Amino acid sequence: MTKALIAFGSTTGNTAEVAQWIADHLGKAGIEATAKDCAGESASELCAGYDLIVLGCPTYGDDPIEVQEDFEPILDSLEKTGIGGKKVAVFGCGDSSYTHFCGAVDVIEERVRSCSGTLIVGSLKVDTPYDGYRKEVEEWSGKVAAAA
Ligand SMILES: Cc1cc2nc3c(=O)[nH]c(=O)nc-3n(C[C@H](O)[C@H](O)[C@H](O)COP(=O)(O)O)c2cc1C
Repeated sequence: MTKALIAFGSTTGNTAEVAQWIADHLGKAGIEATAKDCAGESASELCAGYDLIVLGCPTYGDDPIEVQEDFEPILDSLEKTGIGGKKVAVFGCGDSSYTHFCGAVDVIEERVRSCSGTLIVGSLKVDTPYDGYRKEVEEWSGKVAAAA
């Protein structure tokens, strides 16, 4: 059975909620999925034993674009321990009224590519001030499950 980790950072809880929805959808698709807050974790311990890593991070600040503070150490250690050979998907929560909507997603994609992770689907950018993103999350989770 494919084992998936949904590793997220979240300050006000939106990304944590979406991460849990994704874990639930992947679970329904037959994937053993766990959502974990990455605060204080090291990437090597966090990612060990998983075939699929789903990275979820909100954006705070657009000059420069900032990934959520708990998430930055994970990105650094992913680059050191390597994510090569793992399947990876990326999502983020943001607000489209900002200049760089979900800019952290683009930053993370770039860093995953630079350490040879395989992005299996296009990334999901969730516009959290607007209702209706539950459906979007469900559809995206279906694509992730199909590509896993
Ligand atoms: C100070 C501040 C700066 C933000 N900057 C951005 C931004 O540049 N781009 C964006 O898409 N969203 C931005 N946001 C919106 C958050 O990313 C959004 O509320 C997100 O859902 C928070 O996720 P969380 O609840 O998991 O922490 C910002 C929010 C705050 C409070």
